[in-house]
Amino acid sequence: MKKMEDYVRTIPDFPEPGIMFRDVTSVLQDPDGLKLAIDSMIKLLDGVEFDVIAGAESRGFIFGAPIAYAMGKSFVLIRKKGKLPCETVSAKYDLEYGSAEIEMHKDSVKPGQKVVLVDDLIATGGTIEAAAKLVEELGGEVVKIIFLMELAGLKGRDKLAKYDVASVITYDGK
Ligand code: PRP
Ligand code: MG
Repeated sequence: MKKMEDYVRTIPDFPEPGIMFRDVTSVLQDPDGLKLAIDSMIKLLDGVEFDVIAGAESRGFIFGAPIAYAMGKSFVLIRKKGKLPCETVSAKYDLEYGSAEIEMHKDSVKPGQKVVLVDDLIATGGTIEAAAKLVEELGGEVVKIIFLMELAGLKGRDKLAKYDVASVITYDGK
């Protein structure tokens, strides 16, 4: 039987020399890969009590919504700046060059709700650290953070030391 890793295509030197790009499209375009990815992420939530799944635009949406659907939970959006129509909270985070900003609707998480954060990948951890801050600003509690893939060489977990973090696949490098 194929393992999760077998569905991930790796492209050397993309988008820059020295980077091994872990491509999620090869997982998604195989029905068995997609199913295994969602099922494996759901397993990471064994025994976790929570109310809401929050997914980070855009690849976090692909995984977060089916997990929420399968588990009978609600799904809320963490979007890139300027996309959400109602009142928002926002957080900036650093990219390799420059910075980015994400937002959540103020009513997407209620005070006291237990929230699971979902994304496809953790690299530096900047995106999900900012997402966790937004959830907390809204009074939510981040009870678990899950990824399909983790680039352990970038030490993103160091930024998330106070959270319970789990990944389906861990790559040693960047
Ligand atoms: C990628 C990936 C994660 C994030 C990880 O998203 O999907 O969200 O980067 O990097 P970090 O741990 O260093 O923050 P990207 O911002 O490229 O956008 P996309 O999901 O819309 O493709
Ligand atoms: Mg992303």
